[in-house]
Amino acid sequence: MSARILEGKVFAQAFREDAQKKAAALREQYGVQPGLAVIIVGSNPASQVYVRNKHKSCEALGIYSEVIEMPETTTKDELIAKIDALNADSKIHGILVQLPLPEQIAAHESEILERIRPEKDVDGFHPVNVGRLVTGQPGLVPCTPFGCLRMLELAGIPIDGQRAVIIGRSNIVGKPMLHLLLGKNATVTICHSHTKDLPAVTREADILVAAVGRPNFVTADMVKPGATVIDVGINRIAPKKLVGDVDFEAVKDVAGAITPVPGGVGLLTVAMLMENVVRAAEMQLQ
Ligand code: GUN
Repeated sequence: MSARILEGKVFAQAFREDAQKKAAALREQYGVQPGLAVIIVGSNPASQVYVRNKHKSCEALGIYSEVIEMPETTTKDELIAKIDALNADSKIHGILVQLPLPEQIAAHESEILERIRPEKDVDGFHPVNVGRLVTGQPGLVPCTPFGCLRMLELAGIPIDGQRAVIIGRSNIVGKPMLHLLLGKNATVTICHSHTKDLPAVTREADILVAAVGRPNFVTADMVKPGATVIDVGINRIAPKKLVGDVDFEAVKDVAGAITPVPGGVGLLTVAMLMENVVRAAEMQLQ
């Protein structure tokens, strides 16, 4: 039997509608329009596309948006001064510094991201927000894993008491995903490059999340029949060919539900960013 396909566009649309409604409620009840500032340093072509998408998405949902373009040669101090100004700007509820940063400041990435006020950190990368997630307090959560969790919930896939296995231990996906699923009472395992007998571990998963960055890494023999498989990987294997971390064609005949690539989790990230900007504005009312 073929798996249920979890289409990213369906879930992203639901998240966008939710963010739009909440943004309208903030305007009507408090006279506050949620605002996002995205800083892009240099001219990385992929980053320029992502930033444009974020700006367009804000405009479509009634969220104020500023894109701040800084030259490739920007120093750490200049970037920090810009962040400080946005931290103090009451029109701006969310600040995002687009990554990767150019070489001369990339080494200072942590210091730069930690300069963003935690209440405005819509990427959820600040150690204060990481700490809040780990300790189960309300805070801002990285967009991609948050989108995966919300998709599971909206799809009606049980999490409580289920075995979840995550392949990949990144700070942006794997580790926050662990805490989000744990917070919903799943029993969670993280696997990585040193894990012994990986297929034996992944075959125990009711929910399997792949975030390794290796094309077609998860094969059908690694998946328990009926499991939900979430593919966070986006791997370019030819100029116009993107594939995930999961061998979709083979795994869809074993899994109960599966996200495609493209057209899956990738579409959730910007939608969840919109949700985070609205949540940030709500939190700043208090
Ligand atoms: N570059 C690629 N993905 C992301 C993201 O989620 N946040 C930021 N700040 N930069 C990125």
